[in-house]
Amino acid sequence: MDVAKLVAALLETDQQIIDVVGSGLLKERSTYLICIPTTSGTGSEVSPNAILINENDGSKQGIISSFLVPDSAYVDPALTLSLPASVTAYTGIDALTHCIEAYTNRFAHPMADILALEGIRLISHNLKTAVNNGQDLEARTNLALGSVYGGMCLGPVNTAAIHALAYPLGSDFKIAHGLSNALLLPYVMEFNFSAAEKRYADIAIAMGAEKGVSDYETALNGISLIKELLKECNLPSRLSAIGVPLDAVNGMARSAMNVQRLLKNNVREVNLENARTIYTTAY
Ligand SMILES: [Fe+2]
Repeated sequence: MDVAKLVAALLETDQQIIDVVGSGLLKERSTYLICIPTTSGTGSEVSPNAILINENDGSKQGIISSFLVPDSAYVDPALTLSLPASVTAYTGIDALTHCIEAYTNRFAHPMADILALEGIRLISHNLKTAVNNGQDLEARTNLALGSVYGGMCLGPVNTAAIHALAYPLGSDFKIAHGLSNALLLPYVMEFNFSAAEKRYADIAIAMGAEKGVSDYETALNGISLIKELLKECNLPSRLSAIGVPLDAVNGMARSAMNVQRLLKNNVREVNLENARTIYTTAY
């Protein structure tokens, strides 16, 4: 979908792809654009983003423009019925991460909050079912809706440190985007939650976690539930389990620092040392 969006936008202009990498550089789009997702994950069918890997240096780069928001999106959960369990899990966690990073974002907005929380509820309650029984249309439908909600948060609010730290896993080790997010999700949440305990407690409640005696405790219950969900979806929980060497941590931390367009959204400031610690914890 991201490629289709860029093809539509560049078809009748004199701009080259290299001219439009970044935010707000596309001049127009005159070709009508319809997106039809076949996974419940990226939310690209309703977002202004297109993310590509630059083959010259292997880095992941974003093209962000309101001209990349499709004119129409047809979201049919029946198209996701045949997705393999692993792709269902990866993409579902990506969508869940969009919602979590929007709700806990430094630039969170009340209108996006509603979508993000409902997306968290829908995805967390249905992902395990869809992973274990791909033919469950009700679970697939709820995931599809949750993914659209997550996608609708990407324009106004966007993602934060989980996505920023996930990028080097994609570019350096070709790990699928959703799996990269899954590997960092609980550890970035652990790093972040003290800066926004109430927000992380809301997420926990939306996921069905037990309410604790304080927001702090409720938030921790939510993070435990995330770890459980990852396990139930048969996702690895450690970087070491997917063949990323420990000595890659420094390089990954340095490249993650280049993703300031997302790091600036994170509720807690992430410096180079923090990034190293998060990768090491995830390892
Ligand atoms: Fe994503």
